[in-house]
Amino acid sequence: MRENETIQTIKRRRSTRSYRDIPVPGDELHAIIEAGMYAPNGSGDIERNIHFSVIQNRDMLREINTLAKETAAKSDMDWLRELGGNDDYNCLYNAPVLILISYNEAEVCAVYDCSAVTQNMLLAAESLGLGSCWLYFPLQAFAGGHTDALVTQLHIPAGFKPFSSLIIGYGETGVTRIPRRTARNIFYA
Ligand SMILES: Cc1cc2nc3c(=O)[nH]c(=O)nc-3n(C[C@H](O)[C@H](O)[C@H](O)COP(=O)(O)O)c2cc1C
Repeated sequence: MRENETIQTIKRRRSTRSYRDIPVPGDELHAIIEAGMYAPNGSGDIERNIHFSVIQNRDMLREINTLAKETAAKSDMDWLRELGGNDDYNCLYNAPVLILISYNEAEVCAVYDCSAVTQNMLLAAESLGLGSCWLYFPLQAFAGGHTDALVTQLHIPAGFKPFSSLIIGYGETGVTRIPRRTARNIFYA
């Protein structure tokens, strides 16, 4: 099987859910965000349509965890309700950095574009020796009654909405177990 450094990085990247209490240096963060900006996009003008909220303030991280869980606890979905009501659950896994990726809501490709940006960022983090995890759960913080206050606090531009989020930090464990992926669901014509 053909392999190179990029393919190895893709395979090595796994979700990290336990972090060391160490900040991520600014130039590492910047490199990760820049990698996101180089993702393919369907909107034609990613620089105009995207907004990153880089959250490192501990009070803010705590607030987002609390608000996300509050909303989740009232969800119709069992798994969200269970996690929302679990006192031991921190939806940010105590990571030092949460990045929200907001996009111009009017763009039809917003979800796809944010997804491509997120994956680029996860891979960039992995390539720099940082752990990361793509997260849906924190977006719940924007689905309850505190949306406007949060949007203002985070300077998310009018008409933009967070579609995706990820956490980044130095992982607690150094060993990555790469799962096996078989090729049984591929058809070549
Ligand atoms: C759209 C999306 C949303 C996700 N949301 C969460 C989440 O809220 N919490 C979480 O712990 N993991 C979340 N994940 C991570 C997945 O659980 C993880 O990627 C999957 O189990 C595969 O494991 P791996 O990333 O280690 O390959 C999410 C992943 C994606 C792509």
